[in-house]
Amino acid sequence: MTTIAVLGNGRVGGNLAAALTRAGHKVAVADRAPGAAADAAQSARIVINATPGAGSLDRLTALREELRDKILVDVSNATTDGPDGLPTDLIYPGSSLAEQLQQALPETSVVKTLNTMLFPVMTSPATLTQTPTVFLSGEDPQAKQTVRELLTDLGWQKEWITDLGGIRTARATEAAILFVPHVIRSSGFTPFAVSIAR
Ligand SMILES: NC(=O)c1ccc[n+]([C@@H]2O[C@H](COP(=O)([O-])OP(=O)(O)OC[C@H]3O[C@@H](n4cnc5c(N)ncnc54)[C@H](OP(=O)(O)O)[C@@H]3O)[C@@H](O)[C@H]2O)c1
Repeated sequence: MTTIAVLGNGRVGGNLAAALTRAGHKVAVADRAPGAAADAAQSARIVINATPGAGSLDRLTALREELRDKILVDVSNATTDGPDGLPTDLIYPGSSLAEQLQQALPETSVVKTLNTMLFPVMTSPATLTQTPTVFLSGEDPQAKQTVRELLTDLGWQKEWITDLGGIRTARATEAAILFVPHVIRSSGFTPFAVSIAR
C-alpha cells in the first residue's frame, strides 16, 4: 500500500484515483481549491500530475518543498488547443514538460508515463484488441521501478511497458499527442494507445 496524491480530479485524475484505490493504495485527490494540492502532496510518497499541462510547470514548481524526495508521475500533455478543444501544438517544442519539471524540481524524481493514450486505457489496457504500449521516461531507475509496480496494479503486463530511458525521452512521448486530434477526428473517441508493434 502506497500513499498517493492525485492532482486533478478530471477524467484522468478521477479514473486513476479510483483504480489505484481499488488496487489497495491510499489515495488523496486534490482539486483546484487553494492549498488542496499542497496538502495532498505533503503526505504522499508518490504524486501524480493529472492537471492541464499548460499550467503544470508553474503549479508544480510552487510545490517544490512538498515534492522534495518524492516521485512525481507526470501524465499530462502540454499543448495549445484548437476551438474544438483538441490539441494543436506543443508548448515545449525542442524540449518537454517533463524535462522542464525535472529541471525545476531537482530533488524530485520525475517519471513521465501514461500520456500516450486516451484515459480509459490507462486503467483498462487489456480491453484493447491489440497489445498496447505504455512508456516510461525518467532519470531515477528506482523511481521507474516503483512506477512499473503501479502500472502493474493498473493492469499493465510487464511486456507492455517500455522504458525509453532518461527524462529527455519524454519529448518523444509528449510529441505523440500530435496524433491524437487526427485519430479522434478519423475514428472518434474509441479508446486507443500509441503503441509499438513488432
Ligand atoms: N483525457 C485524456 O484522455 C488524457 C490522456 C492522456 C493525458 N491527458 C492529460 O492529463 C491531464 C488531465 O486531463 P483530463 O482529460 O483529466 O482533463 P480534465 O478532465 O479537464 O481535468 C483536469 C483537472 O485539473 C483541474 N485543474 C484545471 N486547472 C487547474 C488549476 N489551475 N489548478 C488545479 N487544478 C486544475 C480541473 O479542475 P476543474 O474541474 O475545477 O477545472 C480538473 O480536475 C492533461 O494534462 C491532459 O493533457 C489526458
